[in-house]
Amino acid sequence: MAGHSHQSHEHGSDTDWASRAADITREGEVLMPYFTETVTWIASLCRGEGWEVRRIADIGSGPGVGTCVLAQEFDSAVVIAVDGSREMLDRAEARVKALGLSMRVQTLQAEIPVGLDRVGQVDLVWAAMVLHHIGDPVAALRELRSLLKPGGMLIVAEFGDPSRFLPDDVSVGRPGLGERLGDVDLSAAGFSDVSPDVIRAAGFDLVAERMVRVRRDPPLSEEARRVVLGYARRMSQLAEERLDLQDREALDVLIEEDSPLGIMRRQDVFLEVSRRIYVARAAGAVS
Ligand SMILES: C[S@@+](CC[C@H](N)C(=O)[O-])C[C@H]1O[C@@H](n2cnc3c(N)ncnc32)[C@H](O)[C@@H]1O
Repeated sequence: MAGHSHQSHEHGSDTDWASRAADITREGEVLMPYFTETVTWIASLCRGEGWEVRRIADIGSGPGVGTCVLAQEFDSAVVIAVDGSREMLDRAEARVKALGLSMRVQTLQAEIPVGLDRVGQVDLVWAAMVLHHIGDPVAALRELRSLLKPGGMLIVAEFGDPSRFLPDDVSVGRPGLGERLGDVDLSAAGFSDVSPDVIRAAGFDLVAERMVRVRRDPPLSEEARRVVLGYARRMSQLAEERLDLQDREALDVLIEEDSPLGIMRRQDVFLEVSRRIYVARAAGAVS
């Protein structure tokens, strides 16, 4: 998304990841169908090409929700979960242990693009929702390219369409609030641009692209509501410049935990999230 401002507060090194670990775990669990659909698809691409996957690097693994899906699907591969945050890796380790995957999952604390030389060569690099946090994603992608064995695959998951979670009429504020909130695109929040051009600029050829969608219908579970509440709170931080005063006041009601009209209590909240998945290989690589 060209034209995004690159405010440094959204980039990895300036974000307080430790405080976000619980939210990112919850989001990963609520969006589990996206992980399983994507990883199953990648595994079938690999099988179709006879590409045997023995080592995978999960870059910006966070609390390890995706790491464990990778380890379960590629059930003879070693997965190296790489993250800059110790708290995230502690959570990843606990999850790996609980799922009985400790023999095949390792963790490595590294602030990308530095420290990747400790990962070693891998057959797959998986980078989900992390590259937009890195100030220079082209430089980071070049480093990731150097991890891949010849013919190895890079998988990048990034924001898809703006998330939706409310019907158009929410009986709060002016009609059409749900739709206008849908236009407050969280992916435009000062993140780095991670487009096909960026991936190509780092020396990759794009081999496949797909949008993966998750929809949860009402009534939402408490956990799913908390994910929605998190999105709405982020929107309210961004809203200053994107919504008028009346809509901002209505949004305040929606994010009020105890309000009967708020996201945590109303019956019509749903969740629609999508992720765009890119599959790439080092340019000129023979598959
Ligand atoms: C939004 S979370 C995504 C977690 C996971 N991949 C997922 O899809 O659920 C971004 C993760 O990237 C990590 N991260 C951000 N910038 C990083 C950097 N420069 N080096 C290493 N990790 C970074 C954060 O610590 C956080 O765990």
